[in-house]
Amino acid sequence: MSGGSLSLNTGNLEDIVDLAFHDDEPKRYIPVSSAHVSGVNYLNIGEPGLEFLKGLHDSGLKFTVRTTINPGCFDFEDPKWQRCNPALIEKQRMIAGTLEEMGALVTLSCTPYMDTVVPQPGDHLAWAESSAVLYANSVMGAWSNKESGISAIASAVLGRTAYVGVHKPEGRVPHYSISYDGSISNEVQAGALGFAIGSVVGDSVSKFRCQELSNATYVRQFLAALGTSGSAPMIIIEGITPGCEIEDERGVEMIRLADEDVQRVVEKMSSDKEPEAFVLGCPHLTGDELFDVMRRSPQMRDIPAYAFTSRASSSVMNLSKLSGQLKLIRDSCVLWCGLKASGYKTVATNSVKAAYYLKTTFGLDVKLVSLMVEKT
Ligand code: F3S
Repeated sequence: MSGGSLSLNTGNLEDIVDLAFHDDEPKRYIPVSSAHVSGVNYLNIGEPGLEFLKGLHDSGLKFTVRTTINPGCFDFEDPKWQRCNPALIEKQRMIAGTLEEMGALVTLSCTPYMDTVVPQPGDHLAWAESSAVLYANSVMGAWSNKESGISAIASAVLGRTAYVGVHKPEGRVPHYSISYDGSISNEVQAGALGFAIGSVVGDSVSKFRCQELSNATYVRQFLAALGTSGSAPMIIIEGITPGCEIEDERGVEMIRLADEDVQRVVEKMSSDKEPEAFVLGCPHLTGDELFDVMRRSPQMRDIPAYAFTSRASSSVMNLSKLSGQLKLIRDSCVLWCGLKASGYKTVATNSVKAAYYLKTTFGLDVKLVSLMVEKT
């Protein structure tokens, strides 16, 4: 691997980590047990991003902690049917190859917490995928700020991150207490509620009680959408977030949301046009969700459905049961080169996060449709 003109050393990476400190703040660091790098989709980072990664690689830098990577833009194992530009496929392979040679596991998944790096409560991490950071902190009880792709790389090399934000107990004290006077009856509503909360709380930690979020799919859709409209690394969900029973509410600002707030998000994001395809798996489908999608696929309308998941989750499935209209795509974000090449104008998804990015990045009309409507 060569061609990077950029030359970096560990001092440069220390400077990147130090950007997290305020001017008057003492510089303290905390070791991390793993790093997760985002910003690896060539459709997002393009040539400048690839050149930057090559520069890091050619500088001889190596990851010193377990490091996983976010999805790219195509299925590496089965590229032929995807109609993707071969030059683009080559660039995406170079990104993954560069990171692998630096020591990353080529997981190409936005759900590392499901299988590859399952954090334990109290683990300090340097993760950079917002939905994964929110899940690790809010559901698994880990401690991670929302790193940028570059600061996650810096921490992966250095093995430590800045001791700021939610790495500190005082950084996990909520600023807002959210109450919701409505109910959640499917994963689209869960996502819309997360999006409404993220718009209000911004980058602040908040606390929330919602019985329905004990459903695994609902909570993942809720957190992914919360991380789309806001940048908070964590929300304390009572009864779910380990070790976070907040008794004292002094200084906590109360915010009330109602059914109308959720409905407003759905109406604003969802198109009335007839979809030409379904896009499922933002964040990547877990094994259980994939099984559910496969079970329901005969009931889906007669249009193609693209189900995005990780290699690890798909490896435990019997893929011979896939029906004709359902295609499984591993290694790729829903911002997938095949979708770009398809010519579709309107797609359906059950993910508010996917709706947001397919609209803003690919310029598609998106209809929000729930697929998993029962409560568990
Ligand atoms: Fe994953 Fe891409 Fe969605 S990284 S969370 S599938 S926008």
